[in-house]
Amino acid sequence: MPTQFLAPAIVPEEEVLEESLRPRRLADFVGQERIKDQLAIALTAAKARDEALDHVLLVGPPGLGKTSLAHIVREELGVGIRCVAGPALERKGDMAAILTGLERHDVLFVDEIHRLNRAIEEILYPALEDFRLDIIVGQGAAARTLTLDLPQFTLVGATTRTGLLTTPLRDRFGMTFRLEYYEAGELGTIVRRSARILDVEIEDDAADEIARRSRGTPRIANRILRRVRDVAQVRHDGVITNAVAREALALLEVDGIGLERVDRELLGAILHKFGGGPVGLSTLAVALGEERDTIEDVYEPYLLQLGFLQRTPRGRIVTELGREHIGSTAPRADAKLF
Ligand SMILES: Nc1ncnc2c1ncn2[C@@H]1O[C@H](COP(=O)(O)OP(=O)(O)OP(=O)(O)O)[C@@H](O)[C@H]1O
Ligand SMILES: [Mg+2]
Repeated sequence: MPTQFLAPAIVPEEEVLEESLRPRRLADFVGQERIKDQLAIALTAAKARDEALDHVLLVGPPGLGKTSLAHIVREELGVGIRCVAGPALERKGDMAAILTGLERHDVLFVDEIHRLNRAIEEILYPALEDFRLDIIVGQGAAARTLTLDLPQFTLVGATTRTGLLTTPLRDRFGMTFRLEYYEAGELGTIVRRSARILDVEIEDDAADEIARRSRGTPRIANRILRRVRDVAQVRHDGVITNAVAREALALLEVDGIGLERVDRELLGAILHKFGGGPVGLSTLAVALGEERDTIEDVYEPYLLQLGFLQRTPRGRIVTELGREHIGSTAPRADAKLF
């Protein structure tokens, strides 16, 4: 599988840096104004009533700020947080242990909540609704249900797509927020803020250039900023000017609208190998040597948003717009690659 330099999926060694750039409070969280407004009201109301905040579901493509928001909720409430990843929980007992370890009004953050297994999900239902844990002890005729009271807590769930959640789970969230791709202006603000934290000088038009080419995604904006900073230090005097930013972006093969080589390969494969589509996801995954999920969750959403790609019942299709873009960026000779 090709190594993706800027792809939004997280790589471990970058976690520490990402941590340092994470906004801590709602006021530091740039953009998503409607979500912030609604969340601020809910937070204030819950605190005034001395209750746990209603359960929150955060939905959106990778790198748009779901984990950041979960931590912000905890920070704003002044409570504890427990973080788990859906697929990491294997047995019912794992979830029971986590739930009984929570303190009053704590946040339980479950990332990739659509990947919880069914048995664990079922334990959650009464816990979410009545703060109750039902444990079955014994077997057959001797089986009995023990009920434990749990402290009031807030579940914050994160997922890339709501469609992947079962209806009973989805229905138990009091609030569902869909994160949108960011405007270039908002990403510019994020880049300038990150540059301050990283203590690197950046000119305004350079920040705007990076913002325009970050696929609407803060994580990508921050990653590009770090790569650009490297180029500024190694090849120049450390200051990020527009020329330095452009040089670094060319090196990274990020095109004028932020598409990377893999995005162009995806469109190119559909165009040149499958006659523009429709082509099924599995076939496409094999042709690109990528996982289906990665294609669907990481690469496709932005191409769909741009209107370069369409999902139809019979498969993926490259639109006229997508065709034009590939035509303008890839010389015809590239077609041989596919
Ligand atoms: N609204 C924002 N304002 C400022 N920085 C942001 C914002 N949203 C995200 N970021 C930055 O982008 C990084 C990635 O965000 P985060 O980890 O919250 O995304 P995510 O939605 O949880 O992604 P994933 O689906 O991959 O888990 C954060 O470390 C933070 O630096
Ligand atoms: Mg996350």
